[in-house]
Amino acid sequence: MSEETGGLRARGIVMAFGGNVALNGVDIDLPAGTWTGLIGPNGSGKTTLLNVLSGVYRPSAGTVELAGRSVDGARAGRLARAGIVRTFQHPQLAESLTIRENMLLGVDLRRRRTGAEGIDEEVAELLDVFGCAKYEGYLPAQAPYGIRKAVELARAVVADPVVLLLDEPAAGLSKDERAELVASLRWVRDRKPDLAVCLIEHDVRLVAAVCPAIQVLNFGKVLAVGSATEVLTTPAVQEAYLGRSGRHLEREGSSS
Ligand SMILES: Nc1ncnc2c1ncn2[C@@H]1O[C@H](COP(=O)(O)OP(=O)(O)OP(=O)(O)O)[C@@H](O)[C@H]1O
Ligand SMILES: [Mg+2]
Repeated sequence: MSEETGGLRARGIVMAFGGNVALNGVDIDLPAGTWTGLIGPNGSGKTTLLNVLSGVYRPSAGTVELAGRSVDGARAGRLARAGIVRTFQHPQLAESLTIRENMLLGVDLRRRRTGAEGIDEEVAELLDVFGCAKYEGYLPAQAPYGIRKAVELARAVVADPVVLLLDEPAAGLSKDERAELVASLRWVRDRKPDLAVCLIEHDVRLVAAVCPAIQVLNFGKVLAVGSATEVLTTPAVQEAYLGRSGRHLEREGSSS
């Protein structure tokens, strides 16, 4: 079996929707303590891969292991309790609960997995780190979009995941909010040294600012994988993703 890296490892993932093969034999390694950026053009299969890794979709073929153990067939709830926690391209918060109560959902997930107590201080700390403290008593709908995105991320972090899967955390954020997001993500990276992260993002500079490793998808296949510098200077990546001229390294997020 595989060399044990403590994180998530997927092999040969195929995901077909009728005749549309969204993922066609994708491998990905998310070792403990490593932040991997997942990039690729619109429709290349990034969100679909996250949906497979988090148990939202059951793949047509392929295997997924968490810390060396198969989790094939496990649904999203079980995987979350096993420590695979994610955010969505469009933030998914409990709309009838306040922002603080949303954070407590993350706390509850953590308690169920680890039995940890006394983490209320961490809720306050994370609300502060993610710039949401003054909104803690608000309903999500009463908070700006950037705050909703930040709360979803803070809630995922307070759950103390083993593997954290982030789908476009910067989409829809202003330049200033993006800078704050990078600072918050670096705080998480420093605070949680064993965490395995997969970060989907179109803003390649943001990805490179927090992810030493990058994997590129194109038409449902892995186009490149390696260090940020290696991958971003690969001609095939520049052509497929960054545009023919290869000068759009700062390409902003998609609207989807
Ligand atoms: N539930 C679904 N049913 C049918 N087709 C789907 C479904 N989810 C994704 N697809 C298809 O799979 C392909 C990959 O979509 P996916 O959302 O994974 O792309 P993406 O890389 O996340 O794109 P974006 O950057 O726009 O978010 C697309 O052709 C999409 O239409
Ligand atoms: Mg997507």
